[in-house]
Amino acid sequence: MAVGSLADAPKDLLSEIKHLEELFTIDTAKLKEISSHFEIELEKGLSVEGGTIPMNPTWVMSYPTGHETGTYLALDMGGTNLRVCQVTLTEQKSGFDIIQSKYRMPEELKTGDAEELWEYIADCLMQFIETYYGDSTKLDKIPLGFTFSYPATQNYIDEGILQRWTKGFDIAGVEGHNVVPMFQAALARRGVPIKLSALINDTTGTLVASGYTDPKMRIGCIFGTGCNAAYMEDCGSIPKLAYMNLPPDTPMAINCEWGAFDNEHKVLPMTPYDIIIDKDSPRPGQQAFEKMIAGLYLGEIFRQIMVDLYDNNEAHIFAGQDISKLRKPYSLDSSFLSAIEEDPFENLSETLGLFQDKLNISPNLPELELIRRICELIGTRAARLSACGVAAISRKKGYQSCHVGADGTVFNKYPHFKARVAAALCEILDWPDKTDPKEEDPIEILAAEDGSGVGAALIAALTLQRVKDGNMHGILHPENFS
Ligand code: GLC
Repeated sequence: MAVGSLADAPKDLLSEIKHLEELFTIDTAKLKEISSHFEIELEKGLSVEGGTIPMNPTWVMSYPTGHETGTYLALDMGGTNLRVCQVTLTEQKSGFDIIQSKYRMPEELKTGDAEELWEYIADCLMQFIETYYGDSTKLDKIPLGFTFSYPATQNYIDEGILQRWTKGFDIAGVEGHNVVPMFQAALARRGVPIKLSALINDTTGTLVASGYTDPKMRIGCIFGTGCNAAYMEDCGSIPKLAYMNLPPDTPMAINCEWGAFDNEHKVLPMTPYDIIIDKDSPRPGQQAFEKMIAGLYLGEIFRQIMVDLYDNNEAHIFAGQDISKLRKPYSLDSSFLSAIEEDPFENLSETLGLFQDKLNISPNLPELELIRRICELIGTRAARLSACGVAAISRKKGYQSCHVGADGTVFNKYPHFKARVAAALCEILDWPDKTDPKEEDPIEILAAEDGSGVGAALIAALTLQRVKDGNMHGILHPENFS
């Protein structure tokens, strides 16, 4: 088969591509504008009045030294799975052993009833404990780090008042409430022998877990179903904590919840597709930045474009074919886009196969090329926007050179994501050309250690240690730390 290129595409498709390129391309000047605005918003979030980005203090008040020890449980309530881990921090510096079980998070639970959610989680924990520890009635309470990766106000490390559900969750009766007592009540009903030492966010876990093995780590990021970052601030730069009178140089990890950046739509170049996704989501007006970047939404942006090209435009793509499967919201996830961007064949035969298998559509060659280009545009925009957040935190903190620990399916699996973020960071921060291409970037984004497992255990260990040392700030239930 002759190898096609976009230049051979019919005129109508070419003009569609050009239009989409205009909508989705973010040039250097715009990146800089977004990143500068981001920096201002980070600052605002720390102020007494607050801003759009929540900038939640987490009561994680130090980096690990690498010498933490002990055995802890970690529970990760992620978007797709529920994971329970037993983490042993070993005597060896920065060493750990981990045993883990994954449980599917039933889709119905995400939009179901709060009680059922907590019961399900308690059941999974109990099952894990009985498998690995034996008879639960004979056990002392085991310290647990609970990774609850949603925006939560934490006046204490063992508290989490859910600000709002994100990532498509929509369970009534939880927003505005402290989730810890709900969780603990379910544990008590089943007699699960656990004491909660810390409620953490996946980004904070990522920051701490990565800091355990790499002293240059300064920022923890998740580019997965959702998108967010955490970094270490000094209490003196957190006006909203001034009432606590903590020494100004005391460290405090901040869970930025940067997915909420620009909810007021001042700088982000939203396309009509982003607007529809927001409008049709369970929380319109929330998580503007996240909805342009995170894995939950990338496939949906793509799907919206495809349906639009079929329905509304001159392009007439997929003429005469039944697109009913494509009409199903959220039927394509980011792995669909990853696979298309990874298609190694010039004739995009793998993309054709994907469309046939998943959607019952057979695109012709120019359509396949349009499809590939759209994936590139969506994936590149996500990566470049992500860089704006990393650059903003780095500039705010004056980090000229550091490591950023990143995790999540988009970071780990989406082709070219890392290179695209790195290129955008270089543009925003005006790095000089490298003399040796193998040289590290001044700010290097690296694959993180397991934040919601090892990170949660480390935070439990750090909290137990600091209570032992007499630092009771941000501890609601000291009895759980003895
Ligand atoms: C969403 C959540 C945030 C989490 C992120 C990555 O943005 O609100 O808490 O860190 O997803 O999982």
